[in-house]
Amino acid sequence: MAKWGEQQHTEEKIKQVAQWIIHSKRTVVFGGAGLSTESGIPDFRSPGGVWDKYNPEDFYYQNFIASEASREKYWQMATDMYEPMKKAQPNPAHLAIAELEKIGKLDCVITQNIDGLHQKAGNSEEKIIELHGTAMHVTCLHCKKRYDRDAIQERIRRGTKVPYCDDCGGPLKPATISFGQAMPERETEEAYQRSSACDLFIVIGSSLVVQPAASMPLIAKRNGAKLVIINRDPTPYDNLADILIHGQAGSIMAEILNAVKKQLS
Ligand code: APR
Repeated sequence: MAKWGEQQHTEEKIKQVAQWIIHSKRTVVFGGAGLSTESGIPDFRSPGGVWDKYNPEDFYYQNFIASEASREKYWQMATDMYEPMKKAQPNPAHLAIAELEKIGKLDCVITQNIDGLHQKAGNSEEKIIELHGTAMHVTCLHCKKRYDRDAIQERIRRGTKVPYCDDCGGPLKPATISFGQAMPERETEEAYQRSSACDLFIVIGSSLVVQPAASMPLIAKRNGAKLVIINRDPTPYDNLADILIHGQAGSIMAEILNAVKKQLS
């Protein structure tokens, strides 16, 4: 009975979230690595995640700047992590978020992910705020020249250990934000703005432990938005959520989208 009750309870929550989306003027979706695990990209803090495999310290920006050896280690790990991202396809959660934009019910998606799957799913660039940058291209840390990621991976495949800028000789790094690296100003400001102006804030697949990203749901809530958290495991903000759904992002978001379309038809 408990199982059935739980399932029925989840169905009611899904219907309620769908109703809130329909009546919302500005719905913001906030994504974390849990949005992409069903696309084959490991998250960071679940068992078997990235930080089980690599030491986060090796990803610190200061280390990358400090030595050739750290840069070489970083590029080995970045190459490892890039392969699954490149092959990954959007899963039902990404597709549901793209569909919300199509039916005019998405203000924006603020993502901590660097895998470009919201673009692949069909969300327009201007609706996507990549708080932690993107692994899909590479930039020179000195002159900011931009390189295609695959072109740089090809150099590494051919034996380059640490790639440097053709123009200025500066170190090249994927356009992601590492621990210790300054957050992207425009994206962070935009994310704060959108979080404080929305009336519905939906967190999907994030442990909500990394700042300043994790303060966005709090800002939304403080400014009067309803807060929905969809996540497999508990988060520090669960007690703040108006609706909390523990489970798989893909199936839950697909059901929410179906409920929205049913209520709109
Ligand atoms: N469906 C729902 N939730 C899921 C799924 C899934 N299929 N898979 C994983 N999760 C949940 C996990 O329970 C976990 O709480 O997603 C969350 C992922 O948390 P993290 O691995 O900490 O990822 P994230 O919150 O995005 O991390 C934030 O930390 O290391 C930095 O820069 C990195 O952007 C990342 C940031």
